[in-house]
Amino acid sequence: MSIPENIFPDFESILSRRDKQTLLKQKSKVIWMTGLSGSGKTTLAIALEKKLAGAEMLTQILDGDNIRTGVNSNLGFSDEDRAENIRRIAEVSKLFLNCGVITINCFVSPTKAIRERAREIIGTEDFIEVYINAPLAICEERDVKGLYKKARSGEIKDFTGIDSPFEAPEHPELEIRTDEQNIEQSVQLILDYLTPILSQVD
Ligand code: ADX
Repeated sequence: MSIPENIFPDFESILSRRDKQTLLKQKSKVIWMTGLSGSGKTTLAIALEKKLAGAEMLTQILDGDNIRTGVNSNLGFSDEDRAENIRRIAEVSKLFLNCGVITINCFVSPTKAIRERAREIIGTEDFIEVYINAPLAICEERDVKGLYKKARSGEIKDFTGIDSPFEAPEHPELEIRTDEQNIEQSVQLILDYLTPILSQVD
């Protein structure tokens, strides 16, 4: 990492991530949900967060629609803006990670390159890629936000899955088919994978 001139970052004297994890009695990780709009990322993140809270674990959900109204309100959906969106999210996630907090991220993050960049920034050992998979036809049928309809009519351009690509992850840590399983079953699969990882205490 190159450090700009006249900047003096000090990561050493800050209370360590390890200390914070001990305080919170949990291991911090970034759970990175990727998938089409309407695949169920946010729904699962909310249900997962409730379950983890029940197990006394501290989490933070980062979600495309929310982040894009705040820290990333100046970004659109061009390739460059999506890359910058994900880069910033990855950096923000890293702050939470170093604070001992489990981050649950819900971003379309449509390309392999974008997700690889996020993995690099966060660190591969802390990056858990979860592919929330529902076929485009199902997401379009759900059309929770009415955006597919707008994309089909041309009112919205560069919509993922319609006129902008989605590259499915090849080796995600987990894949959840939300067209085949209900919310409860999907969350249970994620929990089965995560619980041993998150509850490790040194
Ligand atoms: S990403 O591609 O940069 O990762 P992000 O997850 O932040 O996208 O935002 C996606 C959300 O923005 C979608 O769930 C949808 O509600 C909304 N959205 C608006 N326009 C688009 C678009 N052109 N492509 C995809 N999602 C869009």
